[in-house]
Amino acid sequence: MDNAERLFEFPHRHLLGIEGLTPVEITALLDHSETYVEQNRQTNKKKSVLSGRTIINLFYEDSTRTRTSFELAGKRLGGDVINMSVSTSSVKKGETLIDTAMTLNAMHPDVLVVRHPDSGSVKLLSEKVNCAVINGGDGAHEHPTQALLDALTIRRRIGHIQGLRIAICGDILHSRVARSNIHLLTTMGARVRLIAPKTLIPTDVERMGVEVFNDMKAGLEDCDIVMMLRLQKERMNGNYLPSVREYFHFFGLDYGKLSVANPNALIMHPGPMNRGVEIDSEVADDFGRSAIHEQVEMGVAVRMAVLEILTANLDQPAPRNL
Ligand code: NCD
Repeated sequence: MDNAERLFEFPHRHLLGIEGLTPVEITALLDHSETYVEQNRQTNKKKSVLSGRTIINLFYEDSTRTRTSFELAGKRLGGDVINMSVSTSSVKKGETLIDTAMTLNAMHPDVLVVRHPDSGSVKLLSEKVNCAVINGGDGAHEHPTQALLDALTIRRRIGHIQGLRIAICGDILHSRVARSNIHLLTTMGARVRLIAPKTLIPTDVERMGVEVFNDMKAGLEDCDIVMMLRLQKERMNGNYLPSVREYFHFFGLDYGKLSVANPNALIMHPGPMNRGVEIDSEVADDFGRSAIHEQVEMGVAVRMAVLEILTANLDQPAPRNL
């Protein structure tokens, strides 16, 4: 059975990043995810498209949302999902990432979902194994399923992405969520603004087709979407900020700063949130405008669609390994 033909055209063996995906491929993934949003709201959430398939979650960094939703996504599609706990594995005995990956590869998984603190590590691993690899976040580089779930959330709330003014605010420098979202949103025709202190903006980021602001009110003016990011302290070596109090004063999202945005502006956050640091509790819990829980819901649907298409592609006689 030619599953991939039946589903949609997605000529990639792995999902390592958003960079390089076309608007048609992104749209096809989002369209397919929609069917799973509906299915996940039914009493019976189970399908059997991944029956007989094995998915291994290999997470070298902490995770609540990403790991749980990949697990749920795999199980709802009838696959066998194994969560490798790095803290109790041979990694603690000094085994390298590649040796661990090759060991798991020998057990014939169909998909490895990998999160690792080093940018580029997941791609390296994908070159050594026979299965499909999904990047669950590699250092400050990419987190493709997060950008897809954010896009699905926006599309369902507003109906389109093209032409929207979208502000991504906070620790852009250390954020793979920001990088994947910049790729996706600019590819889909949104106008992306980055708002952060100078120390938390990567150099020459304008080359990615975004506008940079160092002042919240200037950057948020007339925005349709406000995406907040956590200060990724685990990736900071050195002092980037005078104090958390001062950071909240200048860059924390509260109703005062939000007042210059579009009155219906949607508030988003990939989680985990640090209340009182990058976002005020009142704004985070604003049920009408905050899409934070919807983002989590969309995460399961998007991961189901990605798992389904990549496993279907494994059946292709000559995988087009892009
Ligand atoms: C993000 C991540 O891990 O990159 N979280 C997530 O996957 N939802 C963002 C973060 O850790 O701040």
